[in-house]
Amino acid sequence: MSDATPVSIPFGKPMLGPEEAEAAARVLAGTQLVHGPVSKAFEEAFAARIGARKAISVSSCTAGLHLSLFSTGIGAGAEVIVPAMTHVATAHAAEYCGAKPVFVDVEPDTGNMSPPRVAEAAGERTRAIMPVHYLGLPCDMDAINAIARKHKALVVEDCALAVDATYDGRKAGTLGDVGCFSFYPVKHMTTLEGGMVTTNDEALAAAIAKRKAFGYDRMLGERKIPGVYDVDALGYNYRMNEVQAAVGLAQIAKLDGFQKARARNYADLKASLADVEELTVFEANKGKSVSSHYCLNAVLPRNGKLDRADIMAVLTAKGIGTSVHYPRPVPLMKFYSEKYGYRRGQFPITEWLADQTISLPVGPHLAEGDCGRIARAMKEAIQHVKKTS
Ligand SMILES: Cc1ncc(COP(=O)(O)O)c(C=O)c1O
Repeated sequence: MSDATPVSIPFGKPMLGPEEAEAAARVLAGTQLVHGPVSKAFEEAFAARIGARKAISVSSCTAGLHLSLFSTGIGAGAEVIVPAMTHVATAHAAEYCGAKPVFVDVEPDTGNMSPPRVAEAAGERTRAIMPVHYLGLPCDMDAINAIARKHKALVVEDCALAVDATYDGRKAGTLGDVGCFSFYPVKHMTTLEGGMVTTNDEALAAAIAKRKAFGYDRMLGERKIPGVYDVDALGYNYRMNEVQAAVGLAQIAKLDGFQKARARNYADLKASLADVEELTVFEANKGKSVSSHYCLNAVLPRNGKLDRADIMAVLTAKGIGTSVHYPRPVPLMKFYSEKYGYRRGQFPITEWLADQTISLPVGPHLAEGDCGRIARAMKEAIQHVKKTS
């Protein structure tokens, strides 16, 4: 196939096959569709994979982030430190609790929350710090945990893009007090929608499990008389159902293959873009951190001379799917800037990334030769935009 032939390489693609369909059909043929043995098996398999004592399945990563803060009593008057460069879900979790998200800028070479900025932001009201492992590269957890210890703050890792990422040989999701994962369709593995909370703290795990199901004092299998229970805490309905869990179990069985493909594609694409001086591509390893290779971010220069929208339009025309992580610093999103008065200029690194990063695909859906096609398309896009600007 020549480069002139339109190829269609989506940014991400759920990798579902007959195994997931059969697992889902087995659940649907039975009668227990929620709170059942499949969710329990999925939780155990995920906990074992991550090396966490406990895993609690939830309806989304966002639900997990909310429950992690809510279950530890974080509420009005509390401050929660969040990177400006993240999905809005991280900050929303603090807002749901009535707490105030305090945004900090990120490191220019990783996109992760900058420990010196976290130290500056931490104070008397700090009750939690939420490191987001940007595009799958773990944050500097030694530094973040040290700041958290000093302020007796909870560390909630946002591992939405960090399944199997490691820091000092340990997996993301075990590096703070609690970790939250996303199984949205284009993530490392999917349950359609869905998420998982991991922790080594059994009391916290029990508190989260209760609050994901209304605050029931007895779960389905624990009730002496069917249908009879009390409620001893405020809770939500954030459960994952048995079909989702069955799909998740089938996905875990394939995860090693998916991850190998991601690492290989990342390395291939990065090598193919190495001679493009206009692009900054973050490393997949830094210090103790090893990425889960969610995507490859190609960041255009800070001077703004190469217009991202123009480059992305050329890539789209060439059949290359792209995304942006994330399109605007969260504190500059309308809701947050109006509520807290944040202004442009306060988060210079996040602002650069939000304006100039392009996420390129490296998922297991890529076929032989796709990395070369993506790299060639990117080079042509840059040349085209340079000529026409
Ligand atoms: C860093 C981060 N946190 C949280 C989320 C939300 O995940 P979910 O859609 O499972 O709620 C996302 C979604 O992409 C994300 O990128």
